[in-house]
Amino acid sequence: MPQQALQDILFSQGFGTRRVCAGLVQQGLVSLSGRTCQDASELVETAGLVFNVQGVAWQYQAQAYLMLHKPAGYECSQKPGAWPSVYTLLPGPIRQRGGGAAAGVQAVGRLDQDTTGLLLLSDDGKFIHRMSSPRHHVPKVYEVTTKHPVTGHQLERLLAGVVLEDDPKPVRAAACEATGECALSLTLTEGKYHQVKRMLAAVGNRVEQLHRARIGGLSLPADLAPGQWRWLGADDLERIRV
Ligand code: URA
Repeated sequence: MPQQALQDILFSQGFGTRRVCAGLVQQGLVSLSGRTCQDASELVETAGLVFNVQGVAWQYQAQAYLMLHKPAGYECSQKPGAWPSVYTLLPGPIRQRGGGAAAGVQAVGRLDQDTTGLLLLSDDGKFIHRMSSPRHHVPKVYEVTTKHPVTGHQLERLLAGVVLEDDPKPVRAAACEATGECALSLTLTEGKYHQVKRMLAAVGNRVEQLHRARIGGLSLPADLAPGQWRWLGADDLERIRV
């Protein structure tokens, strides 16, 4: 069973430098199963570990895989311009895993500032690469509210493929159905810049609201409010396995 020194565990989970982590233990701010720890070099079993720092319980994660219900008005960039970053919605230790450098938790692809819904984040570079790679075709389901009523002809064109201005190769929806007069559900297996908005514009309509409801077999849980996040479990990862 894997064991690590307590200060190394805290460091790996984003609680600061090893020195800061040792300091947290020495100040009596870290406890395990209700016992306040004294020794930062104490060896601790990491499998299934729940530790407590300053009254907050944390589950040890060898690597971080999480989902966020992205609200409107947030950018997916680490260094956003006009809007706050989605990373500000995550607790400090999650943002600072891996020392807080570029190696920390990253969004898997990006959603526009005004798009809401399911966003995955991880510090596993291979996972991010696999999920973002166009070769893997993970289907992503978007719920779209449009400015003008959706016509049968528009749905046909989205399915047949439309040409966007920067690429002569047509892009097509893997699935597409009207869900209301001005609403449709659109499944894409690639992720070009502003793809849904540009596809709707190409067929003569306009996106008013955009929400990502599902990635692979993983749906945004109904009880995850905008701005909230949660760890992905093994069953969630299985649902998006590519
Ligand atoms: N397509 C878009 O146009 N915007 C998004 O945020 C995602 C897909």
